[in-house]
Amino acid sequence: MILLGIETSCDETAAAVVVDGATVLSSVVASQIEVHHPYGGVVPELASRKHLEAIVPVVDEAVRKSGVDLKQIDAIAVTQGPGLIGALLIGFSFAKGYAFTLNIPWIGVNHLEGHINSVFLEPDPPPFPFAALLASGGHTSIYHVTSHTQAQLLGQTRDDAAGEAFDKVAKVLGLGYPGGGIIGRQAEKGDPGKIIFPRSYLDKSGFDFSFSGIKTAVNRYVQTHQDEYQEQIPDIAAGFQEAVVEVMAYKIIHAAIETDCNHIAIVGGVAANRRLRESVRQNARAKGISVHIPSFDLCGDNAAMIAAAGYHYLKEGNESDMDADVYSRAYK
Ligand code: KG4
Ligand code: ZN
Repeated sequence: MILLGIETSCDETAAAVVVDGATVLSSVVASQIEVHHPYGGVVPELASRKHLEAIVPVVDEAVRKSGVDLKQIDAIAVTQGPGLIGALLIGFSFAKGYAFTLNIPWIGVNHLEGHINSVFLEPDPPPFPFAALLASGGHTSIYHVTSHTQAQLLGQTRDDAAGEAFDKVAKVLGLGYPGGGIIGRQAEKGDPGKIIFPRSYLDKSGFDFSFSGIKTAVNRYVQTHQDEYQEQIPDIAAGFQEAVVEVMAYKIIHAAIETDCNHIAIVGGVAANRRLRESVRQNARAKGISVHIPSFDLCGDNAAMIAAAGYHYLKEGNESDMDADVYSRAYK
């Protein structure tokens, strides 16, 4: 079954063509980073306008690059939520219209389930059940995943998302937006043991997170070291990253052990973080747990993961109808 996937929930206009929820024939991601960069974050109104400009060329490019004919596309999967309402509406309305015109089924997909399904686009996907850490700019959660379409939430952040913390710390340090990649690169040049920031485990046996305290701690450090912090940016970045990674690595491994899972998946934009990938792999190996992390381009928002999740929903007999609408908040 050949699916066209479409994703416009935040600041990436993306389209992909995927076979059987596993083989990516094409994946096109048009980033709006340059549009939002001067504002230090995503401006919803600008995001919608950019999606509107980009959606047709991005879908055309994905179809062309896939090598399949439009007539060969069996169905469309599109992000329904959570995300920015105006941004979601562009992709969602386009998908409805396109499916109607092509006279093929279509399915609205939860963005978070898309991220979870991104590991199935890689050669060595985990068997069910597995424990998943989803860490992105909007969410940080741990799930017990029992099928492509079933995931039980074990814990989540009570305040900021992990990616949001990276973005805010980068802003405080004057490094620009989005902060994840920038902090990661700075951290590689720094010493994680030089400036120690607090680790927020909350209840050590639980799976909830809190990242607002560490963001405040970095802010306070910068305020109280105005004269020298510029020269310490690599050490601040490394110290911050280490504190965040340590807690996430501990909790996901603990979740796998608690739920008797021998497999872990790390997904979402923050899964691109090298230190996180390395730390989880290292700690998991010692416990005999396998770790599955998508390649870098499938960690951040993309439409291939939406097509992957959508394929399994369609296979289970689900389909969306023309009354379906987008939603802004996570429902699971
Ligand atoms: O999944 P994603 O592309 O979009 C959302 O659904 O939010 O995640 C974006 C987030 C941003 O906060 C970005 O700073 C973060 O992922 N990110 C990283 C890295 N690359 C992207 N965080 C830490 N280290 C990275 N290398
Ligand atoms: Zn995402």
